[in-house]
Amino acid sequence: MKPLEWADGKVKFLDQTKLPLEELFCETADASFLAEAIKRLAIRGAPLIGIAAAYGIALAGLSAPSSTEEEIRRHLLSTIEMLASTRPTAVNLFWALKRQRRIIDEWHNGSVAELQKKLIDEAIKIHQEDAEMCERISSFGSELLNKNSSVLTHCNAGALATGGRGTAVGVITKAWELGKIKHVYIDETRPLLQGARLTAWEIKKAGIPATLIIDSTAAVLLKQKKVDAIIVGSDRIAMNGDAANKIGTYSLAVQAGYHRIPFYVAAPISTIDAGINSGKDIPIEERDAKEVAELFGRRFAPERMDVYSPAFDVTPNELITAIITDQGVLKPPFIESLKKLKLQN
Ligand code: MRU
Repeated sequence: MKPLEWADGKVKFLDQTKLPLEELFCETADASFLAEAIKRLAIRGAPLIGIAAAYGIALAGLSAPSSTEEEIRRHLLSTIEMLASTRPTAVNLFWALKRQRRIIDEWHNGSVAELQKKLIDEAIKIHQEDAEMCERISSFGSELLNKNSSVLTHCNAGALATGGRGTAVGVITKAWELGKIKHVYIDETRPLLQGARLTAWEIKKAGIPATLIIDSTAAVLLKQKKVDAIIVGSDRIAMNGDAANKIGTYSLAVQAGYHRIPFYVAAPISTIDAGINSGKDIPIEERDAKEVAELFGRRFAPERMDVYSPAFDVTPNELITAIITDQGVLKPPFIESLKKLKLQN
């Protein structure tokens, strides 16, 4: 199942807001339609947001005005700005846009057709590289698990969130193929239920025995010794190993530390922000109050109730057992191990 594809000058994507009840595919040649889809989480998950943005620039290349080089450049740069303003936390978005920006900057006195081709090729390359990174993360991560492991995951870091088999969920499905997984516990992931709607859908499709829990049940499971490891994805990792991920990840890491259960973060190098030394500098998106006060369009909280809804939190590096990247498994001190990676940004 591919959540997003390049199809003859258009982007075809699965509207993830409709899952699992409906598998609705949309097709667009319009970068602003794609930006809207990212904003409303029809396209979501850090790596997939980056991939979609790269294709957005490829679409902008195709729809560039047939005029001067300056105007074409202006059109592309304003599309970069528009896509960059969709969601602030996942650094993969800015990483992918930077790669496209480099191509635009290097284009001088060339033909428009040549520029268009380069932007399409780069987006396809970003997409393919992500699929390969998922494979490597999944292999490295599955080696960390013992036979008969029960694991817990939060949010959705699966095929729906990436260009390949996923990061955290990729590790789980790979370990399952190797006969290492006994059971998967899936946090529902309030408020938008990426766990209940998306991860549960993916894990069920893979035929892995799984149980869905509400987020606050996790501590009880850990106390009952029903979980051998927790594996999550990430939206941005600072150079000291602090890792942003879906709200609720930090409290899981605290619980894992208290119960002495390994807590793994799985992410490609496109999620590592070489420009940020600590999690304090990671911008955290805040979402609309409605997402907390309503469920499926029906309000259950009192009218005008004040709501605070950060979409992500930052897990401090000291609570992370290892970071599983496509270049290998990093162990603390992350400030040292992260420095050894070959990063592109
Ligand atoms: O708000 P979302 O659904 O985009 O949040 C997604 C997550 O937090 C994922 O865990 C993260 O992006 C990693 S995806 C491989």
